[in-house]
Amino acid sequence: MVWIKKESAAKLAAILLFLVALFITLTWPNSDPVDEVSVDDQVNGVIELPDPDIDSDYSVEQTIEQRRSVRSLDAEKGLSLDQVSQLLWAAQGITDDDMMYRAAPSAGATYPLKLYVLVGNNGVEEISAGVYLYNPDSHQLELVKEGDIRSDVYQVALRQSPINNAPISIIMGADFSRTTDRYGDRGERYVYMEAGHSAQNIYLQAESLGLGTVVIGAFDDGNVHNIVNMDEAHEPLYIIPVGYPR
Ligand SMILES: Cc1cc2nc3c(=O)[nH]c(=O)nc-3n(C[C@H](O)[C@H](O)[C@H](O)COP(=O)(O)O)c2cc1C
Repeated sequence: MVWIKKESAAKLAAILLFLVALFITLTWPNSDPVDEVSVDDQVNGVIELPDPDIDSDYSVEQTIEQRRSVRSLDAEKGLSLDQVSQLLWAAQGITDDDMMYRAAPSAGATYPLKLYVLVGNNGVEEISAGVYLYNPDSHQLELVKEGDIRSDVYQVALRQSPINNAPISIIMGADFSRTTDRYGDRGERYVYMEAGHSAQNIYLQAESLGLGTVVIGAFDDGNVHNIVNMDEAHEPLYIIPVGYPR
């Protein structure tokens, strides 16, 4: 009799232990690294971007109708990392994990575009001022250069005020050889076409987020390349400041 009771007690203890473990597992805070920026990652200059949101109450027709170039941007209001993630995803994010196709079309899927993000002081809540290169495959930002360089870029872009005021600017560059290696000289025009597709996605995504933007093509190529510390193979095509409309 005593032996049966001991066995029952052991079973009861095992069931209790299982239930406690289940409770802890289900209620433990979600520490998915995609949703947060770890200090280590910042130190190593790699920023994990949050997953993009693919639901919106704002129709694509409304964003097309409402889109306007906005040059008067609020210098006091920064963006969230969620907003930065969303803009970069719309421009060049991976939308097909099997084929690694991206949000904007690309001739022969050669993907020549390179997105650099200039972040001003207090420009993005979670990350420090600097220049970052977007890696579409990993949806990460990689630090290229530390510090707020907006006024330097502003000086070599006809002192266009959105560059100085916007919390961030996306510098769209391209590695032409990725496309011209396959298509020869004709590949050059394909790269410009692709920049247009991608920039329009940024316009529409900004509108959908309640943000303002303008594409800027008037600047000194060599100076922008040097100030931003762009890779030797990348040429700047557009400066795209984004912020809250004033
Ligand atoms: C290739 C290209 C280059 C542009 N460069 C500049 C620029 O350097 N500065 C600027 O303020 N706007 C620039 N824009 C934006 C145009 O001025 C703007 O699209 C035009 O005035 C129409 O206004 P909307 O975009 O509101 O429809 C550029 C647009 C394109 C397509």
